[in-house]
Amino acid sequence: MTNSSISDEFYPEGGLNAASYDLRAVLDRKLFDDPIPFYTRIAKSLASELGVLELGCGTGRISAAIAELGIAVEGLDLSPAMLDQARANHPDITWHSGNMCDFDLGRQFDLVIIPFRGLQEVTDAADQRRALERAFAHLKPGGAIALDLMDPDLRYCLPEGDPESVELPIFLMPDGVGKPGSRLRITAMERTNDPLTQRFSEHWRFEEIDPDNHVIRAEDSWHHLRWIHRSEMRLMLEVCGFVSITEFSDFQGNPPKYASNQVWMAKRPD
Ligand SMILES: C[S@@+](CC[C@H](N)C(=O)[O-])C[C@H]1O[C@@H](n2cnc3c(N)ncnc32)[C@H](O)[C@@H]1O
Repeated sequence: MTNSSISDEFYPEGGLNAASYDLRAVLDRKLFDDPIPFYTRIAKSLASELGVLELGCGTGRISAAIAELGIAVEGLDLSPAMLDQARANHPDITWHSGNMCDFDLGRQFDLVIIPFRGLQEVTDAADQRRALERAFAHLKPGGAIALDLMDPDLRYCLPEGDPESVELPIFLMPDGVGKPGSRLRITAMERTNDPLTQRFSEHWRFEEIDPDNHVIRAEDSWHHLRWIHRSEMRLMLEVCGFVSITEFSDFQGNPPKYASNQVWMAKRPD
């Protein structure tokens, strides 16, 4: 094994994690509830001339799907590695480098979205509330917010954590990354939980494997997330001034369900 590194940042620049994000997202869309039709549908019905703002836009796959419908959209993300990909793949969209808990674009939108658990990557409760306050400030009166979270399965939130590892199917290396013919093995290693702060940390390993099955590059990243209980989420939205708060368990609009998704929609008052 060569080049093993531990990074505290989940999407390090030049690393295999950001480079393979879209591959994993495509797999996720096949295996689980696909967020893209939901966010494009609400963008179509709620956005007009002020457009859509995506917070935690990552590589831009959701904003790009919205832009394809002819709807104005902008994205904001903290990670230079993710924004590099968004800019390279979708150069016609405006991408902002910024922290969703503390930003001011000086304008308002019809719709703000935080798809695919972006709010959970903010790992402090007060910061999560600040992100919702910033979203509120960037909405026109009557504008809407939509976001999704993982509803915590309490068996996986216990102090002892989870030592089990799970290996994803082997991927071909993303275009332009790694040696010709090499493949990518991704393993979700152990997970630690802190029920006091509602934070959990997943250890991910990314390995480039050559055609002879030798590991020629290995990287480790820690993914820190904060779980949010549904009553807490509703209260946070209320405290931030949102009204017409609605919650679903999936992107089809089914009612709330324990240990499923939390899909939230709310409005800034008129
Ligand atoms: C799971 S990804 C979702 C990306 C994209 N929304 C999608 O659905 O593919 C979460 C994104 O949130 C970004 N992020 C985490 N904390 C952030 C913060 N405080 N401000 C802005 N972006 C943040 C990460 O860099 C990452 O790109």
